Amino acid sequence: MAEIRTIGVLGAGQMGGGIAQVAAAASYDVVLADATIELAQKGKAKVDAILGKQVEKGKITADQKNAVVDRIKPVGGPADFSNCDLVIEAATEQVDLKLKLFQACDAAMKPGAILASNTSSISLTKLAGVTKRPELVIGMHFMNPPPLMKLVEIVRAVQTSDATYAATKAAAEKMGKTTTTSKDAPGFLVNRILIPMLSEACFALQEGVGTPEDIDTGAKLGLNHPMGPLELSDLIGLDTVLFIAEVLHRDLGDDKYRPPTLLRNLVAAGWLGKKKGRGFYRYDDKGQKIAGGAT
Ligand SMILES: NC(=O)c1ccc[n+]([C@@H]2O[C@H](COP(=O)([O-])OP(=O)(O)OC[C@H]3O[C@@H](n4cnc5c(N)ncnc54)[C@H](O)[C@@H]3O)[C@@H](O)[C@H]2O)c1
Repeated sequence: MAEIRTIGVLGAGQMGGGIAQVAAAASYDVVLADATIELAQKGKAKVDAILGKQVEKGKITADQKNAVVDRIKPVGGPADFSNCDLVIEAATEQVDLKLKLFQACDAAMKPGAILASNTSSISLTKLAGVTKRPELVIGMHFMNPPPLMKLVEIVRAVQTSDATYAATKAAAEKMGKTTTTSKDAPGFLVNRILIPMLSEACFALQEGVGTPEDIDTGAKLGLNHPMGPLELSDLIGLDTVLFIAEVLHRDLGDDKYRPPTLLRNLVAAGWLGKKKGRGFYRYDDKGQKIAGGAT
């Protein structure tokens, strides 16, 4: 298998932008795409702004920041991935969209290149099945935010070859990450544990057992969690949390995974969490939680 030098990232949102940053910081050349080149450019600008703050704080030099940002090249779409040795898809968590994007990436990519997805819950075996390179398809599940979180959960599709697994693990490690490995099962390992807890916090809120602050403070100080479950849901994005809960409920066939009505309603209202300025809490323009701003 060829050495990985150039990494394509598809989807320049909160995860894709972070993955592009982490890959560029590990000296990979990065080709960043979204639905339009303007969105890819916006993703790159966000990386520039995030690293700019680190320069202001004296954590990195301006030259170090520029070296990372300059390695990220925004492009118009998957057709520009022909030179990539590895593509990491990080577009919106919708199965039909990802199936379509996987076919587009597969058609554009060179033989032998690896096609990974950052999906939180969609079957890698299913995604691999719509490509002509199923043995080169794998899950590379970064945690949010990718620059800060140490883990990459690697998910092996039924078709994933040992060589693809080894090369993907090595690339994640070069990006400074520790990996765990999961078989391709609903929610993999991390979300199988996490999502029922996030849903339970939402059920407790829905039933009026406590306020959002009671619930989050309880988890932080009582369970030693760095974030409470409702603020973590807002960070992940309530659309993403709902989608994963629906996958777990449907594919494991157990009602313990059913999503709460309150979660469905917040998503239907477009209150998707921090990225929209409102979810369980309200956020100002800078993404800071507004005190007393529970929804
Ligand atoms: N949010 C999290 O905490 C988290 C954690 C781990 C994994 N993930 C996974 O990462 C992926 C992205 O999630 P996110 O939180 O970054 O979402 P996001 O909404 O911030 O970003 C999604 C991006 O996909 C883009 N997109 C939509 N349609 C597209 C198309 N046709 N072609 C190219 N790009 C397109 C959107 O424009 C957007 O920039 C999902 O699969 C999600 O399950 C999310």
